[in-house]
Amino acid sequence: MESSDNGPAPTSVLFVCLGNICRSPLAEGVFKHLLEAEGLSNRFIVDSAGTGGWHVGEPPDSRAAYVAESHGITLDSHARQVQSEDTNRFDILVAMDHENLRNLERMASEEEGSAEIHLLREWDPEKSEGDEVPDPYYGGPTGFENVYRMIHRSCEGLLEHLRSGAWAG
Ligand code: 4NP
Repeated sequence: MESSDNGPAPTSVLFVCLGNICRSPLAEGVFKHLLEAEGLSNRFIVDSAGTGGWHVGEPPDSRAAYVAESHGITLDSHARQVQSEDTNRFDILVAMDHENLRNLERMASEEEGSAEIHLLREWDPEKSEGDEVPDPYYGGPTGFENVYRMIHRSCEGLLEHLRSGAWAG
């Protein structure tokens, strides 16, 4: 993203899942909430998108919205599909699972994208249940609470990583 006269350019982060109605809106909402709590909102640009286009324009799934509300977070995104230009527009693309990761890597290689591409759970200190945020779409509310916890732990780790790195200072 472009730099301004008011200090370093914000770090831009795009969370990506399949439908952009469950996991990546949760990650966007949780990460923004952590930034607000730390007074860092103006240092970051945060968005989410899906590799699929079925739900474009829709608000988050009601189960994702409910679990977020139960933790004091209101989700306000509307689904959009990830664009190949996103691989250059953002500093870092954060995928929920390996399929998302593969799709982003393919788009980035076609577009010669400059964004770093990672799995969100690289920053989860609890290494359990694999290294993906599992798709909760066809499961029940317990799945959403489990996914919320994974996302929250991982977003805390991601923020720590970005704060301590060269980007956010
Ligand atoms: P998400 O969940 O990728 O976490 O948003 C899904 C939402 C919708 C579908 C699949 C996963 N779907 O097949 O419509």
